[in-house]
Amino acid sequence: MKFFVDTADVAVIKELAATGLLDGVTTNPSLVAKVGRDFKTVIREICEVVPGPVSAEVAATDYEGMVAEGRVLAGIAKNVCIKVPLTWDGLRACRTLTAEGHMVNVTLCFSANQALLAAKAGATFVSPFIGRLDDIGLDGMELIREIRVIYDNYPELTTEILAASIRTVNHVKQAAMVGADVATIPPAVLQALVKHPLTDIGLRQFVADWEKTGQKIL
Ligand code: E4P
Repeated sequence: MKFFVDTADVAVIKELAATGLLDGVTTNPSLVAKVGRDFKTVIREICEVVPGPVSAEVAATDYEGMVAEGRVLAGIAKNVCIKVPLTWDGLRACRTLTAEGHMVNVTLCFSANQALLAAKAGATFVSPFIGRLDDIGLDGMELIREIRVIYDNYPELTTEILAASIRTVNHVKQAAMVGADVATIPPAVLQALVKHPLTDIGLRQFVADWEKTGQKIL
């Protein structure tokens, strides 16, 4: 399973990239607004830090606008993945941009049929939003399960399922269990994945016992 981080904060991305466990980055207009910096500069900087796909979302909502903006974003770096919304115009733009050789992430996916359309449009990634479905009392993980079944029924569909809107470490585990190809994870959740109280207690004990031996490895 690939791990992407869901943020536009370059300092945080640098820190997480140093773990060697980061496969890509996703941003969206809300995350860009949060950092309050120039969008294209931020995307360029992220692409220099992380060699994997970096999702940059178009602002236009019409086909022509999305294609034009997508081409500009793709020109920033080779690893830019153009993000378009799951609308008819977005799907058309996806088809055009992937035919030109660009990576495309179709975002704001809330149903299995939408995911099927994204795959038929040749999307590199489809982003089902788990947390936002949970927020309205639905089961976000069930959507990932359904998409996995559908894509597995049709091996010619090569779109990767990018589990998005992840809110908890449990979401990450469940997304991995139901076969999401990628999880895009907020930094705090990514950092929390390593934590377990028994790991901390065990390590403290081992360090204390090692000191008793009086030995050194180096
Ligand atoms: C990622 O591509 C999405 O934009 C993001 O995961 C949305 O998360 P949110 O529902 O927490 O805003």
